[in-house]
Amino acid sequence: MATYLIGLDVGTSSTKAILIDEAGEVVDTKVPTYDFSTPRPLWAESDPEHWWEATTEALRALAEKAGPENIAGIGLTGQMHGLVMLDGAGKVLRPCIMWNDQRTESQCAAITEQVGLARVLQLTGNPILPGFTAPKIAWVRENEPEVFAQVDKILLPKDYVRYRLTGEFFTDVSDASGMSLLDVANRTWSDEMIAALDIPSSWLPEVTESPVASAKISAEGALATGLVAGTPVIAGGGDQAAQAVGCGIVSEGVVSTTVGTSGVVFAHSDEYRVDPEGRLHAFCHAVPGRWHLMGVMLSAAGSFQWYRNELGKAEMEAEADGGLDAYEALTQLAAEAPPGSEGLLFLPYLSGERTPYPDPSARGSFVGLSLRHGRAHLTRAVLEGVSYGLNDSLSLMRQHGVEPDRVILSGGGARSKFWRQMLADVFAARCELLNATEGAAYGAALLAAVGVGVYDSVESACGKCIRVTDQTEVGPEKEVYADFYPRYQALYPALKEEFAALSTLSDKYAG
Ligand code: XUL
Repeated sequence: MATYLIGLDVGTSSTKAILIDEAGEVVDTKVPTYDFSTPRPLWAESDPEHWWEATTEALRALAEKAGPENIAGIGLTGQMHGLVMLDGAGKVLRPCIMWNDQRTESQCAAITEQVGLARVLQLTGNPILPGFTAPKIAWVRENEPEVFAQVDKILLPKDYVRYRLTGEFFTDVSDASGMSLLDVANRTWSDEMIAALDIPSSWLPEVTESPVASAKISAEGALATGLVAGTPVIAGGGDQAAQAVGCGIVSEGVVSTTVGTSGVVFAHSDEYRVDPEGRLHAFCHAVPGRWHLMGVMLSAAGSFQWYRNELGKAEMEAEADGGLDAYEALTQLAAEAPPGSEGLLFLPYLSGERTPYPDPSARGSFVGLSLRHGRAHLTRAVLEGVSYGLNDSLSLMRQHGVEPDRVILSGGGARSKFWRQMLADVFAARCELLNATEGAAYGAALLAAVGVGVYDSVESACGKCIRVTDQTEVGPEKEVYADFYPRYQALYPALKEEFAALSTLSDKYAG
């Protein structure tokens, strides 16, 4: 009898389900999509029913493909930080307030003031950020008391899907780390944070390590998905921790960088390390008893996409006429300028920034323009600016004793050989690509494989299933970037006040 595992990633705009075999080979993938809503500026909400519809559609297809009795377990992952509130009958009380919702600035300030920043950092590993879950609970209390009065359970997005599949309330330590309610060092709920929020601890689900088979498909779940009742559902992890498992970032010294619309730098840590200024996230990892540090840059490949759309129209037209891919054409153009772009620097803060400067008013900039600079320089400066921005997270990790011997790259930006070389040179670390490209869903499937005993540890699952397919060694241009990087680093502190003033003015005169 064949053995298959499923990884399910409840994402922002789609739910991705992948089916793998015992050797970790991907057999099939389903990705039903949905929309989320922005009822007001800075708000982002999602209807949990959409996740459930996408989940049943995807699982039904995979169960049919594998034969339901051959599926040994399901691992869950998903968008972190989202607040799902249920009443005593298990009914969703309001749309989920998502990770990218920014409405809770005043609640963050109030909780931080009450507990004290140093204590918050010590307990939860992070400052209380607007996207995190606890300030959203406080927002509902203040703004929707009639909803708040009915709350009986609070769940993260993937854990709501688990509830629908199994009827049970569980979460895992990596996803729970993004709620500002977990004692991240001790990997349990923090009584002190729960008391500060003044909510009953019975609202929170039971929390376990990630590769634990915490619940089973219920009769109702089986009916909805075509799976067999009793199939184990593994705790799983937040999307970043599961993505890291899917890239084999499960021991000290290996770091991953995802160059997607946003950019994420993720380092495994054997110990609980907290940045005293809270610039890096410190969360529990999906590897039992381990942690991770993480930096999130809001516009990574997103900066390059903006540049292509606004200043690469010729390349886009050529692509539409059957020519070269516009991104490839632009990277070829960038290669015509020398490293360092002859003193032109780009700040990639097109959507504000999160790491290392949590500042919604930060703005993108070209600094150092001269008559010598043409489009090749502008293009190269964008790629260099994003690379320096990612290096900011890596530099902070180095300050905390994480010394990467290699960096695993993923995301759209990593497809370019030219950009991979630039990243290796800016990071001063070898960069690698992997056979595994299915991200968080793949990591969740590996956690399921560990949870049901196909592998005896997360490390051995990664060791057996993940291989390096491409390596980029550090080249001589490292020296040039090392000279320019401190100039890049000096720019945000120099411009910070002006960014805030510009943001106020642009709000005042917004059309
Ligand atoms: C992690 C984070 C995102 C969301 C959505 O801190 O904010 O990765 O989980 O993907």
